[in-house]
Amino acid sequence: MRGVKVNLNGQTKVLGVIGDPIEHTMSPYIHNRLIEELSHNHVYVPFHVKKDGLEKAIHGAHALGIQGLNVTIPHKEEVLDHLVEVDILAKQIGAVNTLKKTANGYKGYNTDAYGLLTSLEHNNISLKDKVVLLIGAGGAAKAAAILCASQGVKKLMIMNRTIKKAEDLAYVVKKYYDTQIEIYPLNSVVLDKKIHLCIQTTPIGMHGHSNEAPISESELYQKIEVAVDIIYNPMETLFLKRAREHKALTLNGIEMLFYQGIKAYEIWFDMTIPLTIQNKLLLEIKNKLQRGI
Ligand code: ATR
Repeated sequence: MRGVKVNLNGQTKVLGVIGDPIEHTMSPYIHNRLIEELSHNHVYVPFHVKKDGLEKAIHGAHALGIQGLNVTIPHKEEVLDHLVEVDILAKQIGAVNTLKKTANGYKGYNTDAYGLLTSLEHNNISLKDKVVLLIGAGGAAKAAAILCASQGVKKLMIMNRTIKKAEDLAYVVKKYYDTQIEIYPLNSVVLDKKIHLCIQTTPIGMHGHSNEAPISESELYQKIEVAVDIIYNPMETLFLKRAREHKALTLNGIEMLFYQGIKAYEIWFDMTIPLTIQNKLLLEIKNKLQRGI
């Protein structure tokens, strides 16, 4: 496995990611390679933070001068209570995945929507006037739903195990956008003949559960033109495999993860990362995943 070269000294700025679990995250690899490519004197480390330790962790990180943090499962929503400022998009989404140090505490941002949008654009997939089926209603689904609404989808269908959570998400979107929204229980068949885009945001199908898919109805798969899964490990979830077998174009979550990370780094250091570096790293990360390491 190719390592990441890190030279630490008294001026090294620390960045990191907090979550639970955290041991399978690819973010340290992505960011430390980015740091290496940019010749910055920073280091990015994973922090295993449990729910009951979140507040202390945020205050402690600030006291330690940690410049930037990413926030992942299960803290993206709760972290909002411990910030001094929240960016407008993150406020709309109701979830934060990026913290930037300010004088008195952290300001929260959400770069998941940017990551998903860039990943779609990179693959020439547009959301405008499309019929979109969103599977799930958690933190990641919120970012996807607000993105869909902001990009002018024709209709957003939210399919979730817990109807109440889907309704809550629809309510949030409706606060800001005049989007047509329909709500469905998981695995129900929708009336539309065509689902232009189906975005899978639940953890079903992740590494260790790769024989599971959130939907099993063939009738549903037949309608999907483009299937997007935010999971990247395995690279092809059962959901993507079944969608591909039904002739859909498929896209996994690695580009979304990559671009949300790029955006976070740009926010932390008020900079634009050159496209040459972005493209080189994305290719490297895809190859690394393909080799299964
Ligand atoms: P996150 O905030 O990171 O997206 P989450 O809040 O745990 O994670 O939400 C994950 C989504 O996956 C939710 O929509 C959840 O459904 P519920 O709203 O019914 O909880 C869905 N999900 C997770 N595990 C599931 C399972 N085994 N079967 C069906 N849906 C599941």
